[in-house]
Amino acid sequence: MNSPISPLSPVDLQNWSDHTRVPFSVYTDPDIYRLELERIFYGPFWQPVALVCEIPEIGDYKTFFIGETPLIVTHTGENEFHTMVNACSHRGVELTNEFLGKANDFTCPYHGWVFDNKGECHVTPGEERFRADFKKSDFGLTQLRTTVWSQVVWATFDPATPSMEEFLGDAAPALRNALGGGERPLKLLGYQKIVFNCNWKIYMDNDGYHAGLLHTAFRLLDFQGGQGIQISGGTGGHWGIDYGTKPYEDNGYLNDASVVETRNNELTATVNLIRPLCQSVKHLNSINFRFARPLGPGKTEVHYTYLGFVDDDDDIAEHRIRQSANLLGPSGFVSIEDSAVFERVQKAITAPHNTVNFVKGLAESPDGKRCMQNDEAGSTPWWNDYKQRMGL
Ligand code: FES
Ligand SMILES: [Fe+2]
Repeated sequence: MNSPISPLSPVDLQNWSDHTRVPFSVYTDPDIYRLELERIFYGPFWQPVALVCEIPEIGDYKTFFIGETPLIVTHTGENEFHTMVNACSHRGVELTNEFLGKANDFTCPYHGWVFDNKGECHVTPGEERFRADFKKSDFGLTQLRTTVWSQVVWATFDPATPSMEEFLGDAAPALRNALGGGERPLKLLGYQKIVFNCNWKIYMDNDGYHAGLLHTAFRLLDFQGGQGIQISGGTGGHWGIDYGTKPYEDNGYLNDASVVETRNNELTATVNLIRPLCQSVKHLNSINFRFARPLGPGKTEVHYTYLGFVDDDDDIAEHRIRQSANLLGPSGFVSIEDSAVFERVQKAITAPHNTVNFVKGLAESPDGKRCMQNDEAGSTPWWNDYKQRMGL
């Protein structure tokens, strides 16, 4: 059989040495995916599970996932939140399948065990016939470490996960700015949810940095294109871009240019990638936080969570919704190319011996810690960390 002809030397998992050339199989191999769940999703990463504004009142809860594990996130007291595995400690039944709700306790639909919203077990019908050493207190729900940073509730399975400050490092300021500086209370405006037909790392490699390159709307509307600086930091290669924007000048392309107005002088924009699987973008008056989870090696579910501020008046709140719905999400004028390009990468990476190659920007920034917005160098601190963490 002829060997494949490639100007670059073939690279497979077995001889992967350069973290800037990622073998295709890293994105497709089911064994790699299982190892990622263990070492990354259930490893030392803080992962966003809710925004405070999604569960603003004591007693509110949200269900979400880290990796493939279903979770319940509860608001249990003044600035106090709990994250628990959404699986009954008796026989493993999912306790609730509501996305958002309010409850002081959860009753398992199978045998009626009852848990409070901190995960303690209080009712176990028929207990008199259970094994002699049975104690309810041994059967609380599995808890995750939980913290709140910049109005986001974060959780981790791993006791070794560092503090949020160390975890985010130099990527923290852009993320804080995306969320109104961290103090101005956010308000939930709504969701768009989409499943991309791609590996979760394809979504993270290809979204965020590419707006001025991929999105025709960015050029048609003369949005800012590529002048921001990607700053990478923390543990795991997060990055953020924080840049100013200019007010849109009506170039006649849109019938109603008011949809892309930047009101209230909010002329900053930020893009953030938080590892392993989260993005947050503020552009014009649209603020969104993108929770995500892997659905096996070939699919990724993303929740575009749209935000405003509690002190917004009705006009700006409506403007944020209209702008977000028109520009972003599955059918947004800006985002419409996203699912196409993610899926086209996924389709093509079944070939053996090939690599995804990160090249642009490495001339000036060999370590990828500081590069231009549309550069590929900014992804390489992540891949360096990933390769070591995965033992590949
Ligand atoms: S599985 Fe939940 S009470 Fe039995
Ligand atoms: Fe995009």
